[in-house]
Amino acid sequence: MSNNNFKIAVLPGDGIGPEVTQESVKILNVIGEVFHYNFQFEYGSMGAEAIFKTGNPLPDETLAICKNSDAVLFGAIGDPSFDNNPDAKVRPEQGLLKLRKELGLFANIRPLKTYASLLKKSPLKQEIIEGTDIQIYRELVSGIYFGEKYTEESGAYAYDVCQYSREDIIPIAHMAFQDARKRKKKLTLIDKANVLDTSRLWRKVSQEIAAEYPEVQLDYMFVDNAAMQLILNPKQFDVILTENMFGDIISDEASVIGGSIGLLPSASIGKENALFEPIHGSYPQAKGKGIANPVASILSTAMMLDYLKLEGAANKLRQAVEHSIENRYVTVDLNSDNHYSTNEVGDFIADYIRYSEKSYYNFENVQIGKSTIV
Ligand code: IPM
Ligand code: MN
Repeated sequence: MSNNNFKIAVLPGDGIGPEVTQESVKILNVIGEVFHYNFQFEYGSMGAEAIFKTGNPLPDETLAICKNSDAVLFGAIGDPSFDNNPDAKVRPEQGLLKLRKELGLFANIRPLKTYASLLKKSPLKQEIIEGTDIQIYRELVSGIYFGEKYTEESGAYAYDVCQYSREDIIPIAHMAFQDARKRKKKLTLIDKANVLDTSRLWRKVSQEIAAEYPEVQLDYMFVDNAAMQLILNPKQFDVILTENMFGDIISDEASVIGGSIGLLPSASIGKENALFEPIHGSYPQAKGKGIANPVASILSTAMMLDYLKLEGAANKLRQAVEHSIENRYVTVDLNSDNHYSTNEVGDFIADYIRYSEKSYYNFENVQIGKSTIV
């Protein structure tokens, strides 16, 4: 296989997953044309839609497609018919958790930054959030998500075990330190070491590893305080390292800093596989309405291009996204007065990749931000 051919597994999933993923596929096709790469897409079923079709949230065939790919592009998972039914034995989320485990995706990376034109969208004060730039490293295949689970027959008693081994912590800690070394050289380990044994293990292992990165300053913060600090002063953070469930919670919290959860991408990286997905969920209320923001999926695609070592294409894509945001060519979550559909935002970004400043959508042809085309 030449270096210009890439096999991409596409799992659109549930809710708005398919519509945002479609925009990413559109963009990859344009990138392929412009940069002379060949992306081959293989589609797989996962989540509630897979349960409805096959009874299994992660059919074997889907897993095989993913294992055989260079990268996985994933949409979203979840369906209200399961959320409201705690007795459901098979749940869509089990598909995603199994996929993470089977592909060994131990590190979930969630970058967060602010855009000048969106500062007013955040419920937080502009001066607090302006210039925020954080990378969250969330451990993804261990902890309470994957420990023993039990519900007593009577339904009156249940537990979930949180467990970690050194081997779970070492690889993601190295990744986080390496990233911090390239950035502002500050790493904050978020834990609950005043209460939890697992957190004390995280501290011990991180401390040992810190010796290999003397230029990086390692700080610790209890998760309850971190939840507060993220809102009070997000600029104090550079790279955050944390365990599975704390990472889940604080990354949703951090998303309000950027103005919309619809902007935030993520990469889940393993030794041999990688998966890219927006951090937003399936947003079933918006399904099929063309109002979902495709940017989180598209920026996840940029992270995929980085992973495939196609940095030129990745940078071009990020530039195109910034161009759409700064020119207010955005979906309704970012501009309720004047907005564009999921598909139109995808077209705008694709067009910019193709033509840059000569894009049809540029200035003379469309009065960006003032257009009556909705
Ligand atoms: C996420 C999601 C998942 C998680 C769910 C859908 C299992 O919230 O990717 O953050 O909790 O990890
Ligand atoms: Mn989550």
